[in-house]
Parts: sequence; structure tokens; C-alpha cells
Amino acid sequence: MILYLNGKFSEFDKIKISPYDRGFLFADGVYEAIRTYHKKLFRHEDHLQRLKRSLNAIRINFNETDTLEKIIYKLIEENKIKNEALIYLQITRGAAFPRTHNFPEEKTSPTVFISVQDLNIKKEEHLKGIKVILQEDVRWLRCDIKSISLLPAVLANQKAVEANAGEAIFVRNGLITEGSRTNFFAVKNNTVFTAPLSNLILDGITRKVVLELCKELEINYREEFIKADDLKTYNEFFITSTAKEITPVVQIDNWKVKENSAGKITGLLLQAFHHKVS
Ligand SMILES: Cc1ncc(COP(=O)(O)O)c(C=O)c1O
Repeated sequence: MILYLNGKFSEFDKIKISPYDRGFLFADGVYEAIRTYHKKLFRHEDHLQRLKRSLNAIRINFNETDTLEKIIYKLIEENKIKNEALIYLQITRGAAFPRTHNFPEEKTSPTVFISVQDLNIKKEEHLKGIKVILQEDVRWLRCDIKSISLLPAVLANQKAVEANAGEAIFVRNGLITEGSRTNFFAVKNNTVFTAPLSNLILDGITRKVVLELCKELEINYREEFIKADDLKTYNEFFITSTAKEITPVVQIDNWKVKENSAGKITGLLLQAFHHKVS
């Protein structure tokens, strides 16, 4: 596997990174996950904009975002990705000694790491749907930044795996925010609901695509919080992300949602989504 680190393309076992990298010591960095359809980066401009917002929010000066696209395509080529690629891109504040919480006094150059892998979409999840569990949202109050500080997501995800579920959905003060690595949607009376954009959720690119599709298909939607206590008043649920696309949710904790596969509206969106990317 060939990886990209700070200007160099190297074999996995040749790569070296400083233990003083602030990504390693403080999770002082941001990331993006992007995928290809037909070998082309999907919504690259949206991902780039979000990356720039994340970098600005944590005050990392990195002015070379325009070079990333070329590097990614070269990495895809170098790794001989057969079908579609999932790209992981991480930028940290860089390495500096001694370890200090405040930004290093001497200017550091950001550490840029990019990897690509063959994307494996679990097709059966689209057909059968997945179980999710609810977890208290104990994350910080800047979930709009795609920070590499992901411990609450890691722990919630592990809980999901142990409960045989495909995702953990966060609940903050009784309101559903989003999944540990996805956005969350519910449908009631043919209207699609999802949490509004704010500091409490990530501005998901797939979420944006789904809302665009709702407009195109003339499906009503509302960016409003879904109350965890009201879940049973909705009849369809799905999650979205770059890697999971639109994945129907058929069980929430012990509650088996009536629909045993994608519900009607979810099905329409799934179909439209696949049409868009095919
Ligand atoms: C917390 C969180 N919400 C939502 C998403 C979905 O975002 P996107 O559709 O841009 O992949 C992710 C993806 O990593 C995420 O980590």
C-alpha cells in the first residue's frame, strides 16, 4: 500500500511520523473522507470547502488545499484501485518539541497524510437495513468541525458493535443530533426530518445531497430536531454518509420498526441517489 505523507509517496512500512506530532499528542487536526464514483471524486468541491472551514476553525494555516486533488488521483493510480476508492485525508498542526498545549512558538508545517483503499459497500445493508442504538451525545460543542478527536464516536461505535448494530445515534438533551459517523433522518407523513445545521452536527455532504434530492423529487423536508421520545411517531429512518450512502434503519435499540426494508420515501431517495451517481 502506498501512502502520502508531507510531499512523499511511500510504502506503508517506510513511512515515519514524529511522536511529537500534535495529531498524535493532542488530536490537534482535522480530516475528510471522500469517495469516487466512476473513478471521479464525488462532491470534491464540497469536501474541500468543509476541509477549509475545519482548518480555519482550529486555526491551522494550510494554503495548499488546491494541490490535494492531484495528489489523491496519483495515490489512486499508485495503489491500482480496481473499483471505487475511499480516501482518508488528515491534516494536523505538525510536530513540535517540547509538548505544549498552546500552539508551538516556532512555526510548524502542518502534517498532511492521505491514504486510499478499495471501497467495499455492503449492498445487503441497503436492501435489509441496519439496527442502530441510541447513545448519549457526550461530544464537545463543535461537532461542525471535522476534528480527528473522535473518542466519543469510537466508544459509541464499539457499543454499537457489541449490540450487533451498524451505528450509534447520538441524543443530546432528548434531541437526536446525528450518528457517530453519519447523519440521521426520519420520515413522518411523507415528510423527511433531519437535525438542522449548527455546532451540534457535522454538515454532511451526503445529507446535503439527500436534501437536494428531496427538492428534486418534491418530497417535503424539514431541518428540525427529532425528539428521542417521539421516535415511534415516525415510520421510516435512514442514515447517510460518504461510505454508507443512504442506509435504511430497521431497528432502533429493541424497537423493530415496522418497515422491514427501506420504507417508501427512503426507497425513492435511494433510487434517486443511485441514479445520480450511476
Ligand atoms: C459525525 C458525522 N456526521 C456525519 C457524517 C457524514 O458526512 P458525509 O456525508 O460528508 O460523509 C460523518 C462522516 O464522517 C460524521 O463523522
